[in-house]
Amino acid sequence: MTNKLQIILGGVFLAAAAIALPLDAAHASEGGELKHVNWSFNGPFGTFDRAQLKRGFQVYREVCSACHSVKFMSYRNLSEAGGPEYTDAETKTIAATNKVMDGPDRDGEMFERPAEPKDRIVKPFPNDNAARAANNGALPPDLSLMTKARHDGPNYVYSILTGYADAPEGVVMADGMNYNHYFPGQQIAMPPPLSDDQVTYEDGAPATLDQMAQDVSAFLTWTAEPKLEDRHKLGLKVVLFLIVFAGLLFASYKRIWKDQH
Ligand code: HEC
Repeated sequence: MTNKLQIILGGVFLAAAAIALPLDAAHASEGGELKHVNWSFNGPFGTFDRAQLKRGFQVYREVCSACHSVKFMSYRNLSEAGGPEYTDAETKTIAATNKVMDGPDRDGEMFERPAEPKDRIVKPFPNDNAARAANNGALPPDLSLMTKARHDGPNYVYSILTGYADAPEGVVMADGMNYNHYFPGQQIAMPPPLSDDQVTYEDGAPATLDQMAQDVSAFLTWTAEPKLEDRHKLGLKVVLFLIVFAGLLFASYKRIWKDQH
């Protein structure tokens, strides 16, 4: 093989590898070393577990949505391919349990109506000041992009939710703060949101703290990247293409140079 061909083939395989392997640079975080879950969506071919996304949405809806919004999601996203995939009827029912402001009507008045699939998932507070006022001055951040905004997001959210403990001796806690091993600075304004059997899962799964933390972290991974499955499928196609392409290159090289020595 000539050097040139080796370089071409090497380049093609390197490109394939770069697409197939998510580059995960080691990162030192200020919080403790994160716990790691073996997520179904990990790796280049990973997919979401629909039942898990449904459970995660249930946890979000029954617990987290008291304080946190997911402002980039609409109810209809819940029935789209690649997500929890509720049926359209289920999504309609879920949406209708919330109220939204609409209007003005013919008399110029604003009015409340049940939410519809086209509406954004209803936020707990009308604005940040109201959210702060209800939470001792701390702002519960929007969670739609949280798993993208933090390094190793799914494991970060999972670790925070399962990382509460009594403050070690000698650590002075500020007023209203809770000790959490994984939050930068170890003092978090969010009270521990989950405890065993906090929700009763519609699919009958045991609602342990650990299970709920995993499920809601998976759900928030989907809200941050609703097209994750499409991206993984495309990655697979690109890798297959590159392998076939490398084979073709090699075959044509053989052919073109077959009489040269
Ligand atoms: C009672 C209100 C409340 C509930 C319920 C609640 N949170 Fe929070 N959460 C907060 C507040 C306030 C903060 C900001 C903490 C801070 O800045 O110290 C926060 C912070 C967070 C953070 C850390 C964000 C960061 O900046 O790194 C995550 C992740 C989070 N919440 C997830 C959740 C999830 C998931 C649930 C549901 C299981 C939930 N929260 C339920 C009030 C709440």
